[in-house]
Amino acid sequence: MYRKIIDCVCKANFGEYYQTKSSQTANTDTDLALQSHHAVGYCKMVRAWYMDDSNADQRETHMLDPPVFVSLDELFEKCGVEYMKFNADTWETNVEFAELRKKRGYTYEDLCEISRETLPDYDNKLKNFYTEHIHSDEEIRFVLEGCGYFDVRDSDDRWIRVEVSKDDLIIVPAGIYHRFSLNTDNYIKVKRLFVGEPVWTPINRPGADDHPVRQEYLKRMQSC
Ligand SMILES: [Fe+2]
Repeated sequence: MYRKIIDCVCKANFGEYYQTKSSQTANTDTDLALQSHHAVGYCKMVRAWYMDDSNADQRETHMLDPPVFVSLDELFEKCGVEYMKFNADTWETNVEFAELRKKRGYTYEDLCEISRETLPDYDNKLKNFYTEHIHSDEEIRFVLEGCGYFDVRDSDDRWIRVEVSKDDLIIVPAGIYHRFSLNTDNYIKVKRLFVGEPVWTPINRPGADDHPVRQEYLKRMQSC
């Protein structure tokens, strides 16, 4: 059983600002994954929604009309995507952030700043980020500045768009089809975490369909 880890639970009401102040105990990995850390006070909730199929600029929101939002619970249940929240200004002294790294075995971290000015080969990199792919490991991103979209496939192969901004930490599981896009601000700065020596290699669709990691992911999601 985990000790008390949260001051404020911020889940469910996507797209809203609200205040909850409670103290709860996380009993399982799922609890830990679904609870937000260190978010006392008003919390800007991460939002996720089903995407339209328009060919408009990928940096637009691509919401359905009317929008269909996806809660954090659904995001975890349908896709295995985990979301947490930490203060990006104080993460270095944040005990919970350190505990997360220890518990999940994140031994590597670096910074990645995505903008035309800072990222070499910017246009090609953005194209690659937005090509549907899997990885053989989790993709962990903690947003320090800026915004972006992680698009993930649900079990019915529909795209869910997860909007991330400062303080958001997202864990995209190994084997899930996903892609990344900047929004129209064209800027994000993230901390990348990894277990062991980093492997950033994407395995694109459809070539990844038979990959053992993809098969393992599908089996895991079916058994949930
Ligand atoms: Fe990726």
